[in-house]
Amino acid sequence: MKYSSHNLSLSVPGPNPLPVFGRAINTFRFTNDSIKYTHHLFQTYGPIVSLAFGGGTNLYSPLSNCPGTVFIYGPELIRQVTTQDEIYYRYSLTGKFYGKRNLSARTKPLNYFGVGLFGENSDQHRQHRRLLMPAFHKQRIESYRNNIVAITQSVLDQMQVNEHYDIAKILKLLTMQVSTKTLLGYDIGEKSNEINKLLRDCLNPNSLLIALLPFDLPGLPYHRFFNMLAQFDHELRNLIMHKRHKGLDDGDILSMLIQARDAESGVSLSEDELLGHTSAIFAAGYDTSSHALTWTLFLLSQHPHVAADLLDELENVLYGEAPTLEQLQQLPFLEQVIKESMRILPPIPWNVRVTAQPTELGGYALPKGTEILMSVYHTHHMSEIYPQPEVFHPQRWQTIQPTVFEYNSFGSGQRICIGAAFAMMEMKIILAILLQRYRLQCIPSLKVDRQEFITLAPKYGMTMTVHKQDRQFHQGVGGIRGNVREMVKLT
Ligand code: HEM
Repeated sequence: MKYSSHNLSLSVPGPNPLPVFGRAINTFRFTNDSIKYTHHLFQTYGPIVSLAFGGGTNLYSPLSNCPGTVFIYGPELIRQVTTQDEIYYRYSLTGKFYGKRNLSARTKPLNYFGVGLFGENSDQHRQHRRLLMPAFHKQRIESYRNNIVAITQSVLDQMQVNEHYDIAKILKLLTMQVSTKTLLGYDIGEKSNEINKLLRDCLNPNSLLIALLPFDLPGLPYHRFFNMLAQFDHELRNLIMHKRHKGLDDGDILSMLIQARDAESGVSLSEDELLGHTSAIFAAGYDTSSHALTWTLFLLSQHPHVAADLLDELENVLYGEAPTLEQLQQLPFLEQVIKESMRILPPIPWNVRVTAQPTELGGYALPKGTEILMSVYHTHHMSEIYPQPEVFHPQRWQTIQPTVFEYNSFGSGQRICIGAAFAMMEMKIILAILLQRYRLQCIPSLKVDRQEFITLAPKYGMTMTVHKQDRQFHQGVGGIRGNVREMVKLT
């Protein structure tokens, strides 16, 4: 094991910080383009590298004494981190961005908003995961099929042929509606839209302005953010009261969580915990699925043969209809297309942990509090695992069976995505309906740059023209600009 001269500083190799602004420059280069910058770091230093040699950086950890940031990639290092839960903890980002200092009655919702499983560790995480699991069991998620079909059809009905749309925005709206229906039980309509907007605004506030101007004064973003949080708190507590009063399982996830009792301890979730899990599940579910769908439609638009084969499969099984649960099992190529899309452009390119105790990784000592960022993206682009990794080739899934550490789109270990089966079902249904109905074509010279940190998304959205499904797949291929070309081989 290699130790640094100072046993609290980080000995993992990495670029030496320049004088004065050194670490800030490294941090800027990472936040500006994490994929490109870490590609350079991994090539120079190997599969375990620090953001700044000696540490002193903090990208994610809410702990004030974070010794530094380490990036890793590759299945073996990912296995070690994701399977040792007592060594590698996970924290929610809420604490990092808004701080947990001076919590008043007004800022108290920060204790649980967006936290859920993401901010729990050890026994509490295990117990709550047990409580949540039944809501994600096969039978339960299958009961959402009809709602997903109805919402998809209603959103697609509003699209006009020959018009341009930002498909990323439309898919976000669609997956958000699916989330509010399956999670809270709200039907499409005014209330659902209001809750969607509230949750979205609470989850995507202007973090920088809030951090720079943390004053609760009318007109400031900080004040607006806490007003919205209070409104969300109020709405959800009312909804929980209403569901408790009825005492019925309405079929949505929240109803189930309200009634859940841990078989081992008899414990149930408190109201704060219910709010935390609900907001965290909402946050985890809609953005990830909508990005995966957006990238898949983009990749299909640039790979006419894949698009044609996929449509053949869909039409042969579905004859233009929405898939039933049984038919979803008869669409292997659809599954391969989604998997390959999430391999090449993973919706979550980084997975994060913080060491809960001093440990050793890849031959280096890591002090307690070190933050670890696992690169799902670089692991998915290892040519040893995926020959010609930049080629979008769904057929490769007919012969490969990567381990969960090699294919890490949904994470691995005890924290593997609890909503993975739900997400796969949702994405398959949406794509099957959409692709039989419409052909989406990128507008000429579309610029597609990446935007990544928590999720990997197209920075300027994805403007596409909607055509009736006419099988003219070769139209609109090529001419794509932007750094997406560094990630995927395009003509
Ligand atoms: C394409 C869609 C999705 C992707 C790529 C994705 C990815 C992930 C990943 C990588 C993790 C693991 C994080 C870690 O190891 O710390 C995770 C965890 C989680 N996901 Fe997903 N997810 C998706 C959809 C969903 C959906 C639809 C839901 C809920 C309806 C959901 C709920 C969760 C929750 C609650 C966790 C935390 C699990 C835990 O800490 O025990 N996800 N997801």
